[in-house]
This record gives sequence, structure tokens and C-alpha cells, in this order.
Amino acid sequence: MIDLPLKQWIKPEVLAQPAYEVKTADYRIKLNQNESPSDWPRELKAEVLKRLKEAAWNRYPLMIHQRLKEKLANGLAVSPEQVVIGKGSNEVLQALAHITLRPGDTLCTLSPTFAVYRLLGEQQQALVSTSPLTVDFQVDEEDLLDRSKEARLTILSNPNSPTGSLLPIELIGQVVRQAQGLVVVDEAYVDFSGVSALPLLEQFSNLIITRTFSKAFALAGFRLGFAIMHSQLAQQVQKGLLPFNIDTPSAVAAEVLLDHREVVKERAALTIRERDQLIARLGDLPGVTVWPSWANFFLLATPLGAQKTFTHLAKTGILVRDVSDYPGCENVVRITVGTPEENEALFQAVRDLL
Ligand SMILES: Cc1ncc(COP(=O)(O)O)c(C=O)c1O
Repeated sequence: MIDLPLKQWIKPEVLAQPAYEVKTADYRIKLNQNESPSDWPRELKAEVLKRLKEAAWNRYPLMIHQRLKEKLANGLAVSPEQVVIGKGSNEVLQALAHITLRPGDTLCTLSPTFAVYRLLGEQQQALVSTSPLTVDFQVDEEDLLDRSKEARLTILSNPNSPTGSLLPIELIGQVVRQAQGLVVVDEAYVDFSGVSALPLLEQFSNLIITRTFSKAFALAGFRLGFAIMHSQLAQQVQKGLLPFNIDTPSAVAAEVLLDHREVVKERAALTIRERDQLIARLGDLPGVTVWPSWANFFLLATPLGAQKTFTHLAKTGILVRDVSDYPGCENVVRITVGTPEENEALFQAVRDLL
């Protein structure tokens, strides 16, 4: 096979990037992508399908997009003009990187953090400045304040992935106050922390908050996320998204879910209880280290190291995430909190591994 002259066609920053891949194996229990462990109740799926049957499939989804914006805005006590919706929060983050970063500009983020931020920055030929977390995965406040000050774009995952750690809202306020550029707080896991930077929006026009339907809302299969910001800024961010990016099925599903927020709340509360119990029980096992988490996942280290832990758990049919290639995570795996039964199986499997 002849090698294509890719250097002639593709940006060097893209060629240098590893593909975004998630290590997989056959599984019975899936705890590797921070999804909701339970699918939607049948009645709600039936409701989505009913509404979809009635929807016009031949029309561009203009009205439904607007209706969804209004519903989201109502729930958050902001105006619809402040909301931008994407195919997953990833798409909104991509639009933000696209409209803000020029070659040589600085994107500031944490390390370790969600790998997509770096990919997006590099594809815009930006410089990625990362503020390293401490060995306990806590933020170095001075370093972050220093790096974010002059960055064109700062993206902070709160709670952070893959660590589950939480930045204090006061610190976020300080970062936003002194930043010359935009600051994005990615609140993909906010339903499990209960801590949001949303109240800061009134004070700061350079703050953007992103959220997703993929985690607590259990809708990863439909791809939907959104951002909240100052309305003038939202107008510009919308330009970074292609027209009619939100398809009718995703918007209809989201509308139905937003009418049943109590289910989301109950499930998130169960996940929080399960997370705290699981972390406490695993932490009592000899040789095991687990870190506190404000998300629906946590980090775990065993004396076997990350790869052997991953393989052992995979042999028992439990798929977790080997994050040992993330800086500072050399010995750890990331585990999503599952159903009570799945969590019990995980606990037994970790105990057997020792
Ligand atoms: C911190 C963080 N932000 C964003 C996303 C992407 O979410 P979405 O499915 O909305 O694109 C993820 C997914 O794992 C995540 O962990």
C-alpha cells in the first residue's frame, strides 16, 4: 500500500494527535464512560416515539430547536437568548475553540483533564497551557490564576474528569474576574456535585457554562449538550455551529426528559449514595487507594497497577477505563458508578484481585 502524502494535506498538529480511542473488551458490566447505568423507562421512550411519529420529518428542525431552548432556559431561570445547543457538549466546545482561538493563541486548562480540550486547541494551532494538579488531584490555585490570566480561552471541567475533584466556586470566580479571555466551566457532572458556577453568570460576561444530556440525563445515545452565557456572546458562538445542527429526534427526546426531571434527580441521588458507599468500602481494602469524587466516577489504584487491574476486571466481565496515560494517573483506573448490583459485583471483583 502506498503512503498518502498526508503532510501535504493535513495540519501538522492534527497529524501529531493520537486518535481519540476508548480501550474496550467484551463486558457484562460497563463502567468505563461515565454514562448513566440505567436506560430510560419504557413509558418515556414510548412518549418520545409517539411524538416523533407526529413530527414532520421532511422539515428542517427550526421550531423544535427554539422550543427546546425555551424549555432549557426556563429550567435555569435564564433567557432563551443565553442558550446555545449542540450535538453533545463536545460540539459546543468545538464551536468555542473554533471561533476564539487563532494560531499561537493560548488555551488554558488543567492536567489531567478531559482529553478533548487539548485536541480542540491543537486543531486550531493554539498553544495549550496546562495547570498541573497536585498528587492528590487538587488544583494549584496560584498556578491556575497565573496561566489563565492572559489565555484567550480557559476550559475547566468542574467536577474534573478523570479525577472527580472539584474546584471551589470562589476560585472560579477569581479566574473569571481576572481573565482577559473567555472562561468555560464544563459542568458535565454537575448533577452529582450540586455545585454550579451558574450564579456567577450575572456578574461576568466572559463566563460560559456547558452542560450535557449524556450523563445524569442518560441520553448519550442521542448526542445533546448546551451552553449558557451572555446573550451577545451566545449570538457569536451560534455562528460557530452549522445551521440546523440539532436533529428532531434528539430535541424531542430532550423535551420529554425535561418534563420528567424528577426521574433524573432521583437517579442522581442514588448514584451519589452508591458512589460514597463504594468509595468508603473500597478504601477499606488493604493496598487499595481511592480518591474522593464529586462526579459519577472515581479513581482507584491497586498494588497491581492500572493495566493489570483493567485486565483482571475485564476478565470478570467488568469494563473500566484505564487512564494510566493521563499525566499523574500512571497507576489508576477510572470507574463509573453503576447500579447497586453492578457496584457490588465490582467490589467483589476488586477484592478477589487482591
Ligand atoms: C468533562 C466532560 N465534558 C464533556 C463531555 C462530553 O459530553 P457530550 O456527550 O455532551 O459531548 C464529557 C464526556 O465524557 C466529559 O467527561
